[in-house]
Amino acid sequence: MYSVSKIENNYDHSLKIILSGDSGSGKTSILSRYFEDIYSDEFPITYTQDQKEKTIILEDKKIKLNVCDTAGQERFRMICHSPYRGVQGIVIVFDLTDFNSFDNVKRWYCEGERYASEGTPVIIVGNKIDLVDLKKNDQVVSNEVIKELADSLGAPYIETSAKYNINVEKLFLNIVQNILYYKGYISTVSPSKPIILKKEPKDKSCIIN
Ligand code: GTP
Repeated sequence: MYSVSKIENNYDHSLKIILSGDSGSGKTSILSRYFEDIYSDEFPITYTQDQKEKTIILEDKKIKLNVCDTAGQERFRMICHSPYRGVQGIVIVFDLTDFNSFDNVKRWYCEGERYASEGTPVIIVGNKIDLVDLKKNDQVVSNEVIKELADSLGAPYIETSAKYNINVEKLFLNIVQNILYYKGYISTVSPSKPIILKKEPKDKSCIIN
């Protein structure tokens, strides 16, 4: 079902996605890899927010994608709902080599739950997979624990490397598909099941320490 057609703007859907997560988790790197195919070991810290836009084609439909990169550092973050205004998908990034960034995923989820519209699809991203030597079993958080969290939030989980361009495209494809699925424009999502920000009572799901 593709009833909404923005013929005048020459696209079928216009989607806004937000990247959230701790400072240093790799949000800017993921954004730059996806939009410009650029990676640097020294991206400056995001002080406010940055937006990038491009048009992608999915199932013969033209989609205008606007992705907003937010500041991970608390002191640069205005905790208000403005970055979340009109957001249709949330990407929460953590650093696979930094336990604190994983520990804060719930916190970012709660921020999204508070400011985004009910039912906004979310995806959890473990970035910097290139730094994890699976043979040495040196992950700071086990796959079981990550899966447990993702399941409890009802969100799919994907591992990426912005540095080596692993799964970055797939991540955006997945969130776009989930948004379109949620809106009823497509009937299947691959590879993950559709995910929905659960609206549990705030006191149960969103205790921010
Ligand atoms: P804030 O702007 O403070 O919110 O940080 P951020 O989440 O945007 O992180 P950023 O993209 O600036 O990356 C932080 C550091 O991690 C930089 O030195 C990057 O080069 C590095 N980095 C990002 N992604 C990867 C990755 O996939 N692998 C490796 N090895 N390093 C990465």
